[in-house]
Amino acid sequence: MTRQYWRPSNLLNPVPAVMISCADENGKANVMTAAWTGTICSDPVMVSVSIRKNRYSHDIIARTGEFVINLTNERLAKVTDYVGVMTGAKIDKFNLKGDLHITAEPSKVIKAPCIAESPLCLECKVKQILELGSHDMFIAEVVSTDVDESLLDEAGRLDLAKADLIAYNHGEYFTLGKRIGKFGYSVKKASTIKREKAEKKSEHHISSQQRRDIKKKSRYK
Ligand SMILES: Cc1cc2nc3c(=O)[nH]c(=O)nc-3n(C[C@H](O)[C@H](O)[C@H](O)COP(=O)(O)O)c2cc1C
Repeated sequence: MTRQYWRPSNLLNPVPAVMISCADENGKANVMTAAWTGTICSDPVMVSVSIRKNRYSHDIIARTGEFVINLTNERLAKVTDYVGVMTGAKIDKFNLKGDLHITAEPSKVIKAPCIAESPLCLECKVKQILELGSHDMFIAEVVSTDVDESLLDEAGRLDLAKADLIAYNHGEYFTLGKRIGKFGYSVKKASTIKREKAEKKSEHHISSQQRRDIKKKSRYK
């Protein structure tokens, strides 16, 4: 590999493209797009989002100390882009028409609304604002995780792959590609892989047996 050495850049990719919703003291809601957001602590659960001072949302979030991170999917991609190029200082982004329409829904814990069409929303309370330069970093605690029930399996486990989430890579939006591994798969023992394969096979066997039983029963009805 032959490298070129460029000046410092913000080329950390891919990043999420989320919609950050907030509401002012009179309850007027706004939403902006953010790609510079991240998970920063697990106990307490904390996130960060870096917002330029001139964004309309910036002062609202600084004053109220609340915002919601709304994850986005393929269906929300267009509006995610739109609310990231239009300012709430000039338009009401919760009153858009057609495929740009999003609905402000009351949050569970905070006053800032979440977006009803978002598959998963993180309600956040600001703990600290770091003035970094062009952007201020809002460090916040997640106070509620609001999950669309259709993402849960029968046992109540979250299957986020069902959410169709999108990523932002060097200025372009992408759906996620094929699954290529799982946490820890690189260190999994051959015996564990073998056992899991066998378990999967027997699960399949049980279900085909059950299918046969059901067929048999329905024949005698
Ligand atoms: C994909 C994408 C990612 C963005 N990420 C950020 C970000 O992380 N921080 C930021 O300050 N602005 C970001 N923006 C720009 C703001 O979303 C944009 O300036 C928006 O109009 C601000 O809305 P507001 O003025 O209503 O707050 C992004 C825009 C797009 C389209």
